[in-house]
Amino acid sequence: MGLPRGPLCWLLLVLAAACSGLLFALYSSAVEPYPGPRSGARNTTSPRAFFPPKASNSGTRKSWPCRHSLYLAIQRHPHFRSLFNLSTPVLLWGGLFTPELWDSLSQHKAPYGWQGLSHQAIATALSLLSGSESAQLFPASREPPPNCIRCAVVGNGGILNGSRQGANIDAHDYVFRLNGAVIKGFERDVGTKISFYGFTVNTMKNSLISYRRLGFTSVPQGQDLRYIFIPSDIRDYMMLRSAILGVPVPEGPDKGDRPHTYFGPEASASKFKLLHPDFISYLTERFLKSKLINTNFGDLYMPSTGALMLLTALHTCDQVSAYGFITSNYQKFSDHYFEREKKPLIFYANHDLSLEAALWRDLHKAGILWLYQR
Ligand SMILES: *[C@@H]1O[C@H](CO)[C@@H](O)[C@H](O)[C@H]1NC(C)=O
Ligand SMILES: *[C@@H]1O[C@H](CO)[C@@H](O)[C@H](O)[C@H]1NC(C)=O
Ligand SMILES: *[C@@H]1O[C@H](CO)[C@@H](O)[C@H](O)[C@H]1NC(C)=O
Repeated sequence: MGLPRGPLCWLLLVLAAACSGLLFALYSSAVEPYPGPRSGARNTTSPRAFFPPKASNSGTRKSWPCRHSLYLAIQRHPHFRSLFNLSTPVLLWGGLFTPELWDSLSQHKAPYGWQGLSHQAIATALSLLSGSESAQLFPASREPPPNCIRCAVVGNGGILNGSRQGANIDAHDYVFRLNGAVIKGFERDVGTKISFYGFTVNTMKNSLISYRRLGFTSVPQGQDLRYIFIPSDIRDYMMLRSAILGVPVPEGPDKGDRPHTYFGPEASASKFKLLHPDFISYLTERFLKSKLINTNFGDLYMPSTGALMLLTALHTCDQVSAYGFITSNYQKFSDHYFEREKKPLIFYANHDLSLEAALWRDLHKAGILWLYQR
């Protein structure tokens, strides 16, 4: 699931794996208050006694006719009610770029801010994301607009091998995928639909190298596909800028890379979304504040790409199903669904998959998301 950011990470491997083994042994089997992805979701006659949050994050979230809207589940939950703030801006775009934002984000390192990054590089990237569509994840023009936005987020966990969930996944309005999302040959298990592909330049390029042999030979492309950049480094701002301008990356470790080889020939700004560093801070602080932060590896730690995509969906969709995410019985499954032979899931020190597993379990129990388990 997670990809190492450096060879150092291997060091904490054994320790982390041992700790997580203990944690998982304590898991109880989860109840399933959320009815799952197949239930009738659109019921325009159901009560609407609850006020929606300011729908700054989804242009099409006009009404709340979902019978099992995650918003209602959050409001009912004593703990999660105080964690979620659905008004937090999810995406960063040009309209938010002010001297105040620069000052505030300059105090934090990426992915939480811009400390040490070039003002010009950031300003250029954000000036290209100046249209209102850059502020919203979902296209405003979709006809007819779904009155209950149902999202599937597909992690790459081995639990999907042989799952036959492809049709269920594709039945959602939007499907999020990430990193080495191999589709060819796994259609029956993971489906084919892809609305969003989430990554950092580092995880995308690592996936192309590490999983090429296993079928991840290119980044998914498609007319309706949108890319979600996770700004973990100046590389992400540089690649984003170059992709929209349709030019090779001018400097840095990706110098000379031609973005269209990753994202295809269409290079309009509407194709690319950028997670807000403040959103990543908020998620880390409230949902995934790992003990790793206080170790020597603290600077390496950040939520996994899968976690960021799943939490993005939870802050923009009305219903969320999570497939291929870590479950309490993860040891039964291979690391990734596309491996040929079973490989154990590896706990790198840059992510805290035990903490993520506990979060998905608790959100599922609370009926805020539906976690695919078997
Ligand atoms: C919609 O919700 C209302 C009230 O909860 C219920 O009476 C009705 O049967 C539901 N309709 C459908 C089609 O599920
Ligand atoms: C939620 O986030 C918005 C936008 O950042 C902020 O204005 C508001 O005060 C927050 N609400 C709470 C209860 O923290
Ligand atoms: C995937 O599932 C098949 C059929 O159940 C099994 O034979 C194979 O070993 C699994 N692959 C991995 C990598 O676990």
